[in-house]
Amino acid sequence: MDADLVVVGSGLFGLTVAQQCAERFGRRVVIIDRRSHIGGNAYSENEPETGIEVHRYGAHLFHTSNQRVWDYVNEFTKFTSYVHRVYTSHNGEVFPMPINLGTINQFFRAAYTPDEARALIREQAAELDGKEPANFVEKGVSLIGRPLYEAFIAHYTAKQWQTDPEKLSADIISRLPVRYTYDNRYFNDTYEGLPVDGYTAWLERMADHDRIEVKLETDFFDSSQPLNKDNVVGNVPVVFTGPVDRYFDYSEGRLGWRTLDFEEQVLPVGDFQGTPVMNYPDADVPYTRIHEFRHFHPERDYPKDKTVIMREFSRFAEGEDEPYYPVNTPADRDGLLRYRDRAKSEKGVLFGGRLGTYKYLDMHMAIGAALSMVDNKLEQHFTVGAAIQ
Ligand code: FAD
Ligand code: NA
Repeated sequence: MDADLVVVGSGLFGLTVAQQCAERFGRRVVIIDRRSHIGGNAYSENEPETGIEVHRYGAHLFHTSNQRVWDYVNEFTKFTSYVHRVYTSHNGEVFPMPINLGTINQFFRAAYTPDEARALIREQAAELDGKEPANFVEKGVSLIGRPLYEAFIAHYTAKQWQTDPEKLSADIISRLPVRYTYDNRYFNDTYEGLPVDGYTAWLERMADHDRIEVKLETDFFDSSQPLNKDNVVGNVPVVFTGPVDRYFDYSEGRLGWRTLDFEEQVLPVGDFQGTPVMNYPDADVPYTRIHEFRHFHPERDYPKDKTVIMREFSRFAEGEDEPYYPVNTPADRDGLLRYRDRAKSEKGVLFGGRLGTYKYLDMHMAIGAALSMVDNKLEQHFTVGAAIQ
């Protein structure tokens, strides 16, 4: 079909832009994606042996306080009443996360009141005595004291970065929230839940429109396919949600990313860990956490004698690895500023999403940012013919 807009990438950013331009402005949109499925990293599929829904690119929990985003996503799916909670297995004992009064009292074998716990943490955090933290261990100690920091944060973060805690820079963390109540609800947002029929049904409904065509296994930089960069840019407006450094042939250097490796297992037990996510903050365990997917949907009729678990390992991305979390070194930040300038002067192309802006975005943030791009740029273009830049 002839397109009024080409969207590169079918993640939540690209899907939102495409759906809005098709629906609100009656435009014909082609979405291309290099993967064999839509949805970007929010994609999920049912594990064939058990039928249990597995989030292919790591566990995805939907939460937002943005009313517009909540109303928008509810046009495509209902959400369950799932509330996210995380536990952590340290030295053979399980504690509630994020660090709260329950964690503190279990750890110190005490029955502190909120004020007593506050006083204790303040005293332990004063260990550095006003000295500027030299690395991220000292920074952590200055925020919550050494005992809790070393137990729950130091090695966990070191595993995420595959780097000795002493060698990590202090500016990786700026704050470590501690709750002085027993509330261990993970997110503080107004709305939270999981899509009732699964992520993929939601994502497919967004793309299910007469004026939207999706082309999978189609890379924007593959010159052998018709909708490639050289053919499209300058002729049809583009919203690009792939990696911004790749778009400009890495001319300003490669931006650093962390990636994750997932090890999935089907086990012959009905329940492996009794909860969706267990963190492993100790140095002698190589993975950072284990997800058990059946617990995301207690309302579903899953088999009672089998379960699916996924161990998560974290490392720096290289070569063809999936880019997941921006590393954000000072060199990355410099490079990003240069790419932003280039992106601004690239006529007819708007850069968006996680990869296009080199920014970690939760799903609700990606959707919110896409709605803003539609309001601020694409509406002007499609209603009064303003140029895209
Ligand atoms: P993506 O989903 O990454 O989509 C980009 C798409 O562009 C991909 O499909 C890719 O194949 C395609 N693409 C790239 N280059 C090209 C090219 N050259 N040609 C064609 N197509 C291309 N959010 C939450 O709210 N809650 C969570 O619990 C949560 N957990 C997460 C866990 C992990 C491990 C990760 C990585 C993210 C998580 N997120 C979570 C964030 C969520 O995945 C993002 O909000 C979402 O990915 C952002 O959507 P996006 O469209 O910007 O990017
Ligand atoms: Na531009």
